[in-house]
Amino acid sequence: MVIEFVAMLVVGKLVIVVYSSFSTESPSMPKKRSSSRAWLKEHREDPFVQRAQKDGYRSRACYKLLEINDRDKLIRPGMTVLDLGSAPGGWSQIAADLVGARGRVLATDILPMDSLGGVEFVQGDFTEEAVFDHLLTTLGSDDVDLVMSDMAPNMSGLNAVDQPRAMYLVELALDLARRVLPKGGAFLAKVFHGEGFEPLMADCRGHFDKVLTRKPEASRPRSREVYVVATGFKG
Ligand SMILES: C[S@@+](CC[C@H](N)C(=O)[O-])C[C@H]1O[C@@H](n2cnc3c(N)ncnc32)[C@H](O)[C@@H]1O
Repeated sequence: MVIEFVAMLVVGKLVIVVYSSFSTESPSMPKKRSSSRAWLKEHREDPFVQRAQKDGYRSRACYKLLEINDRDKLIRPGMTVLDLGSAPGGWSQIAADLVGARGRVLATDILPMDSLGGVEFVQGDFTEEAVFDHLLTTLGSDDVDLVMSDMAPNMSGLNAVDQPRAMYLVELALDLARRVLPKGGAFLAKVFHGEGFEPLMADCRGHFDKVLTRKPEASRPRSREVYVVATGFKG
């Protein structure tokens, strides 16, 4: 049995969510192994995983960006694209291909990422101010045409913990977008339906001419994730 405990502390303007869980089962109990086996089986049989292996893409997430880009034409040759939460590098691969030699792709992730032709990479936790500032310095005076974020926190399975963490990442991504996009720029980000979703959409509508959501085929139907596509930054 897994016992979970969540507490919310309000300190001034800061809301701190404390989450603790412990299991009464030994880590080697068969139940855990069978859920890992089920995950592996689902992963191996996933048609997008199989397609990615065949097409030489680093992740099944590539097909999400490809489908969104087919519809919304976000990435064009010569553009500068910022890829937040880039590892293992699928979206960066697609972006580097589409922007071509005249374009620029700057990617970042808390995890390491194998190098990719045409992609600059900064490793670090995006929630840390130093990493945020390092990205701004690396960009220099370049205008960014598209800020895209596929960031997702490690899921605990407990919505009260996962949803605020996920919303925090997308809010920071939007914050960065507002600092680096010129008028007319675009923002694409993974968002999860739930607490904070509507305020985030309203925030986007306040800063972009057109805001919509997409649920690409490669996004699992059981997942609450959708992608917000915001174009025409108002500056
Ligand atoms: C769904 S994966 C991205 C997949 C990627 N778009 C691709 O196509 O290969 C989400 C990524 O967000 C990253 N991430 C989560 N929290 C982060 C944080 N605080 N700072 C930077 N990256 C983070 C994770 O390490 C993970 O690699």
